[in-house]
Amino acid sequence: MDALQLVFEEPPAAAGSLPPEVAALYGGALSLPDDVLYCNFVSSLDGVVALDAPGAGAGPTISGRSPADRLVMGILRALAEVVVVGAGTLRADSGHLWTPAYIYPPLADAFARLGEPRLAVVTASGEIDPSERALQPDGLILTTDAGEAWLRGKLTGGTRVRSLGSGPLGGRRILEALRAEGHRRILTEGGPHLMARFLEEALLDSLFLTLSPVLAGRSAGDGRLGLLEGLELLPARPEWWRLASVRRHRSHLFLRYDRTR
Ligand SMILES: NC(=O)c1ccc[n+]([C@@H]2O[C@H](COP(=O)([O-])OP(=O)(O)OC[C@H]3O[C@@H](n4cnc5c(N)ncnc54)[C@H](OP(=O)(O)O)[C@@H]3O)[C@@H](O)[C@H]2O)c1
Repeated sequence: MDALQLVFEEPPAAAGSLPPEVAALYGGALSLPDDVLYCNFVSSLDGVVALDAPGAGAGPTISGRSPADRLVMGILRALAEVVVVGAGTLRADSGHLWTPAYIYPPLADAFARLGEPRLAVVTASGEIDPSERALQPDGLILTTDAGEAWLRGKLTGGTRVRSLGSGPLGGRRILEALRAEGHRRILTEGGPHLMARFLEEALLDSLFLTLSPVLAGRSAGDGRLGLLEGLELLPARPEWWRLASVRRHRSHLFLRYDRTR
């Protein structure tokens, strides 16, 4: 694959820590604070990130199986200590592994030097397939008391369940549970319902967005979702972000926004 082209970048706050062969393909360094919550999504030009189409994985369909998008996913996973996803994302992508080497095998050796993130899944109901291989070797399920009861006796291998109590799980509770497990660099790959919980409490620090050169279209009730689902921000609560970097690979754009504090 040819390298991403750097179009714009703010001066980074700290030196990046990518192995040279990764930085060469990424088009430079990538620096993240030690304590950070960041997300990564791919969106169509018209803002669709999820398709309710059985058999058509939203990510690969929207990105057009872009190798550059897979590279960026791999890098962002490799820099994370934990990748947290909602149960809807796990169910939509059964068999997927949320690891850097799985999504971009050519750099598996370099990614291994950065470390392997753990997977954490958020579910209120607990109704996830306990045999999902993504939950091995040390997956973490963050759930409610009811979800924990549902999962009791069903899990195999090293998967652990942690109940965060009853009621809806707010973003802060989820984040605190991940920190209590010792995780500081936290990547969320969504989906839109989980994202909304993090944005509701203004917890997200950086947003990595791949803008794919495709139009998805939508009609009322078709299950196609944008980045946030179940949360209204504009006009009452505008969330403005600062553009931190722009890269391109052919007609795909790789945008990084940091929260304006
Ligand atoms: N384009 C992209 O980059 C991208 C990225 C990620 C996902 N997606 C797509 O997004 C779609 C899924 O969207 P989604 O919004 O339904 O995904 P989601 O947020 O992963 O899943 C929603 C489910 O996750 C659990 N959940 C989420 N937040 C929770 C919270 N705060 N407390 C308790 N449980 C919580 C609940 O599971 P229970 O029902 O088990 O209680 C809820 O029904 C899929 O098509 C997927 O492919 C696309």
